[in-house]
Amino acid sequence: MKRILFVAIALIAGVLAGSCATEETTPQQAVVNSPSGENTLNFFLLPDGQPAYTAVHSGTVVIDTSGFGFEFVDMPPLKTGMEIMSVNESTFDETWPMPWGEQLEVRNHYNELEVVLKEKEAPTRTLVLRFRMYDDGLGFRYEFPEQEGMKEALIADELTEFQLTGDHTTWWIPGDWDIYEHLYNTSKVSEINALEKQNHPNLAATYIPENSVNTPVTMRAEGDVKYYLSFHEAALVDYAGMTLRVDTTSLKLTSGLVGSDNTDHKVKRTLPFTTPWRTIQIADEAKELIASKLILNLNEPNAIGDVSWFKPMKYTGIWWEMHLGKSSWDFANTQKGGETLTLEDAKGTHGATTKNTKAFIDFSAKNNIGGVLVEGWNTGWEHWIGFEDREGVFDFVTPYPDYDLKEVVRYGKEKGVEIIMHHETSAAPRTYDQQMDTAYALMKSLGIHSVKSGYVGRLIPKGEYHHGQWMVNHYNNAVIKAAEYEVAVNAHEPIKATGLRRTYPNMIAREGLRGQEFNAWASDGGNPPEHLPLVAFTRMLSGPIDYTPGIFNIKLKPWKENNQVNTTLAHQLALYVVIYSPIQMAADLPEYYEGKPAMQFIRDVGVDWQRTEVLNGEPGDFVTIARQERETGNWFVGSITDEESRAMNITLDFLEPGATYEATIYADARDAHWDMNPEAYEIRIEEVNSETMLSLKLAPGGGAAISIIKK
Ligand code: NOJ
Ligand code: CA
Repeated sequence: MKRILFVAIALIAGVLAGSCATEETTPQQAVVNSPSGENTLNFFLLPDGQPAYTAVHSGTVVIDTSGFGFEFVDMPPLKTGMEIMSVNESTFDETWPMPWGEQLEVRNHYNELEVVLKEKEAPTRTLVLRFRMYDDGLGFRYEFPEQEGMKEALIADELTEFQLTGDHTTWWIPGDWDIYEHLYNTSKVSEINALEKQNHPNLAATYIPENSVNTPVTMRAEGDVKYYLSFHEAALVDYAGMTLRVDTTSLKLTSGLVGSDNTDHKVKRTLPFTTPWRTIQIADEAKELIASKLILNLNEPNAIGDVSWFKPMKYTGIWWEMHLGKSSWDFANTQKGGETLTLEDAKGTHGATTKNTKAFIDFSAKNNIGGVLVEGWNTGWEHWIGFEDREGVFDFVTPYPDYDLKEVVRYGKEKGVEIIMHHETSAAPRTYDQQMDTAYALMKSLGIHSVKSGYVGRLIPKGEYHHGQWMVNHYNNAVIKAAEYEVAVNAHEPIKATGLRRTYPNMIAREGLRGQEFNAWASDGGNPPEHLPLVAFTRMLSGPIDYTPGIFNIKLKPWKENNQVNTTLAHQLALYVVIYSPIQMAADLPEYYEGKPAMQFIRDVGVDWQRTEVLNGEPGDFVTIARQERETGNWFVGSITDEESRAMNITLDFLEPGATYEATIYADARDAHWDMNPEAYEIRIEEVNSETMLSLKLAPGGGAAISIIKK
């Protein structure tokens, strides 16, 4: 009640501010609803003429009075003293196809409000705010139209506010300008202290300048009305990534753009331009957050046409063995240049050999796996040790002497397995820019259609950060260039996903979180059991994740004494369904899969989906997702839990009525436990139909994976 009153007062204040200040007949406030009326946005001017809004969900104020604005390096702020010149409302409804994805088609249905604002006094700049109201949340962006007296914007910061209405439980990572590979924290907004997360021992680059969080950041309101919010951005193009500064007293979040030490501005743009969308997902139940397509819908349609040359796939790789220390990326200890290395220089531990790659191809072909990633195939890794002077070190076309690139590609083709290229840029993007054309042209000539790229370390040039405008442009340009060569990109140490895969469907997956690799070497015990039940409601809302699941040798013996995976084996299986990506790695060494009945699930599970149904879930606790494979119509279900064991019933009402299916259930054994007994599982087969209710029992840190095949 109090909150509603506050909005009313704010609205009146806005109207008064408008009517006192101008003779115009244009209304000085506006209201727009989502198509069902569930979400409402009130737009108004504060008494000093600053544009502001509130957001209401089913009668509850979820965002209280929050302002808009900008600060510039060379101009006064664009914030107060504004009037509304025009207000336009429209409706949009379309359904668009996903070339690959969580479902076949997406409905994009919203009501739009366009507000044109102008400063009443000099410099009389014009600014447009565009709002899109969806039933699952809202997005808005700023537009700087072409205008007299302002040709360029040197943005010092964006002043977008999100005034929370309670001290919500929040799942957050710090607003690091360089890396998202932090564990998620759970706390009240008032207890967020990102600065305590500085100097993380496991991160090669990290910079957290203020008490802010990175997005997506998800919250649960626990007052009289329970609801969930998740804040993020859509269509991050030619702009800096946005963190959210946290005021732990007023419970207000404010946009904090990622900057650079080399310039005063955080964003430099020539007018006209638009900012990325600022998004707020709003849901009554947490599972709705995962089902939402709001972020994708706020992106432009496919701009590159047919991408059928990229096929969603499972893959294995010469990868985990390096993280375990079984083999090395580099071929030789010598610092000699690539061309002069000979077989005599070999130090004997190199993973990416022709022989090893062929063994991976054979294993993949036998197990219905379409790709093999090969890391450490190219010259440069021997210089990586020094790590400081990384410009010009990596070469993306010259293989080491023990790796016959053409031969492994030929052999793979014979077996129906594609090689996945690897480009570790070592965060020297200018070196990569220079070689990109040649590198992608080589891939095209060999018929290789996907690359995993990497940006480990502090950026060169010094003073730039991974999430600033300069790097946003690098990441996006790489994807656009790759498309010209029919190459799809899976970036590690990337910029966050903002739904650009709709526009550039060759942007297939990315890391952008603490991946499986941390379990192999992190000095803090690795990813805890709650990690992925938490990721599903945070990082995963932004887009596909290359987490690299499927570790069966949970204790990592004999390779690692002090590390392990902190889940059960059944939990690892469930990740193929829970964590969405059109490429899914079977990450463990082939010897740990050989002869294991659970491998049948990895063989069977799909990677490209017709439908997705999120069955249940609570951030950081558990989540269950069912997905139907496009090609076969088979269903797969994955359920994971944190360190708590859980019993649940799931109804298979998503199955075709009247049809009979065979369900194979890969479940934690009765005494399974992520630490004490992680590899114990049992497989049972049941006949099921759309009326079946299945009882699942998940062990602490456990999971369940189910394949449901039509009979
Ligand atoms: C970090 C990536 O996340 C990992 O997957 C890769 O193996 C190494 N960099 C080396 O490029
Ligand atoms: Ca990484």
